[in-house]
Amino acid sequence: MVSIIGIIIAPVAVLRPTLIKIMVDEYIVPRQIETLWIIAAATMGAIVLEAFLSYWFSYNSKWLGQAIIRRLRFDVFQHLTKMHLSFFNRTPIGTLQTRTINDVETINSIFSQGLVTIVSDILTMLFVISMMLWTSWKLTLVVLAVLPFLILSTYLFKEGVRKSYEIVRTKISEMNAFLQERISGIHAIKTFSKEEEEEQKFRKINKAYTTANIHSIFYYAVFFPVVELISAVSFGLMIWYGAGGVLKNEVTIGTLVAFPLYIGMLYRPVRMLADKFNTLQMGLIVARRIFKVLDTDEHIPNTGTIVAKKLSGDIQLKNINFSYQEGHPILKDLSLTIPYGKTTALVGSTGSGKTTLIGLINRFYDLEDGEILIGNTNIKAYDLYSLRKRIAVVLQDVFLFRASIMENILMGNDEITPEEVIQAAKDIGAHTFFERLPNGYQFEVMERGSNLSAGQRQLISFVRALVVNPDILILDEATSSIDPTTESAIQLAIEKIIEQRTSVVIAHRLGTIKKADQIVVLEKGRILEVGSHEDLLDNEQSSYHQLYAHQLV
Ligand SMILES: Nc1ncnc2c1ncn2[C@@H]1O[C@H](COP(=O)(O)OP(=O)(O)OP(=O)(O)O)[C@@H](O)[C@H]1O
Ligand SMILES: [Mg+2]
Repeated sequence: MVSIIGIIIAPVAVLRPTLIKIMVDEYIVPRQIETLWIIAAATMGAIVLEAFLSYWFSYNSKWLGQAIIRRLRFDVFQHLTKMHLSFFNRTPIGTLQTRTINDVETINSIFSQGLVTIVSDILTMLFVISMMLWTSWKLTLVVLAVLPFLILSTYLFKEGVRKSYEIVRTKISEMNAFLQERISGIHAIKTFSKEEEEEQKFRKINKAYTTANIHSIFYYAVFFPVVELISAVSFGLMIWYGAGGVLKNEVTIGTLVAFPLYIGMLYRPVRMLADKFNTLQMGLIVARRIFKVLDTDEHIPNTGTIVAKKLSGDIQLKNINFSYQEGHPILKDLSLTIPYGKTTALVGSTGSGKTTLIGLINRFYDLEDGEILIGNTNIKAYDLYSLRKRIAVVLQDVFLFRASIMENILMGNDEITPEEVIQAAKDIGAHTFFERLPNGYQFEVMERGSNLSAGQRQLISFVRALVVNPDILILDEATSSIDPTTESAIQLAIEKIIEQRTSVVIAHRLGTIKKADQIVVLEKGRILEVGSHEDLLDNEQSSYHQLYAHQLV
């Protein structure tokens, strides 16, 4: 529809000067005053029609653009949230932000200034030229004598702007990535007093961005006057030749009146066209970048069909090999049975692969080699989302969103009632902690939970895990030391949530470790020992014994 209007608009616009020419030649010059009103009314009508069509066209083409980019933004977001974690390990957050917001916005220009309007502009030009030729081909050729200069300058302009625009886009992306990282890492910057240094770095990026922008502004600043100049020359040529023509009776006065209008109509689109071509080109570049993200199919393949209603049975890890980057194995031929309904504690020095190991159980990553079975079924055979629903994971550092405590616990799950949340909080002894906050459960948590203590954040994450009543609980115990009251509350909370279900705990607290049914000692991606606290401690050769002696666990 929009393109149809775009096409209609071109001949209607050309109608106006033509009508004026007819008015001068057929009515004013022969003094046909009585019927002049007819042609005057027709001209008025053409102007009104043109105004209406151009309103319709610009509103609808922009509306179309908005509708499309709304959809696209959503698609990019949806695609990103489904993406594999390893994709995020590689891609700076700021870059993804640029893709979803700035880049998609640029695509809008394809619609509002791009394709359809370009077609409409070209059509207008073609109509204008043919009307001019029809009116007076000689005069037209004179007017068009400057065309080669126009084409050349347009080409130079287009190339210049394109190059500088490309740099502008890259710099925006860099700037977003930089800003995002510094703001998230503001603590580290302050701790190490790096404000000045970061300011310097930002100053550099900022300057590069400005320079790129100024380059493109320069091209615009030069181009517009140049086109102005060329059109003035063409206007001068027309007057010079046209006036002579009138005298020789070769050119009518009406033609002489209509031609400046034609020239105006011819050069305006030319000026805009170069710019629009750039916008279109940029839009296409950006579109390519967005589609690159959309085409990156790094999802964990969700081909399993079994809906995990209840996960029972042991978790068996069989000859697992895993690496984040090829050639740097993190887990090496690891086999382990995690008994159903019992607590397994993982211990081992930092970087030994504990967090990695638990991330494999709910398929954050897929294995290179080997298999993981839950109740004799390979986890790949389960529907991914149903599997993750039955497994609760409490990570080392808790991530909280900007929302109330209640909302942070519910996480949008409408199968849970607030009463159940409060009950769960009471069960693990977190209730009194939340009650003490202003507004209790409605306390507004800031981004990443920055207005809560580490202990409070952990308690929230425990309630979050408990309230879904998972079959398997995975807990990466945080090492941060907390005041003794909170510490004992957390210890109690942990004991409660790991009770009566299969639990895997990366344990740092001796209390948790001692109570575990099985302790697994991990070292450099391999299992060194498996046994109970007493068994392992009795064996003086065991590395658990050493760790214990050094108070490392
Ligand atoms: N996202 C990642 N991308 C690449 N390498 C990673 C990633 N996460 C961890 N690693 C590497 O994997 C190894 C094991 O890390 P992991 O987080 O499993 O250790 P961990 O035993 O949990 O240590 P900690 O006790 O300090 O939490 C480390 O050498 C680390 O460099
Ligand atoms: Mg870890």
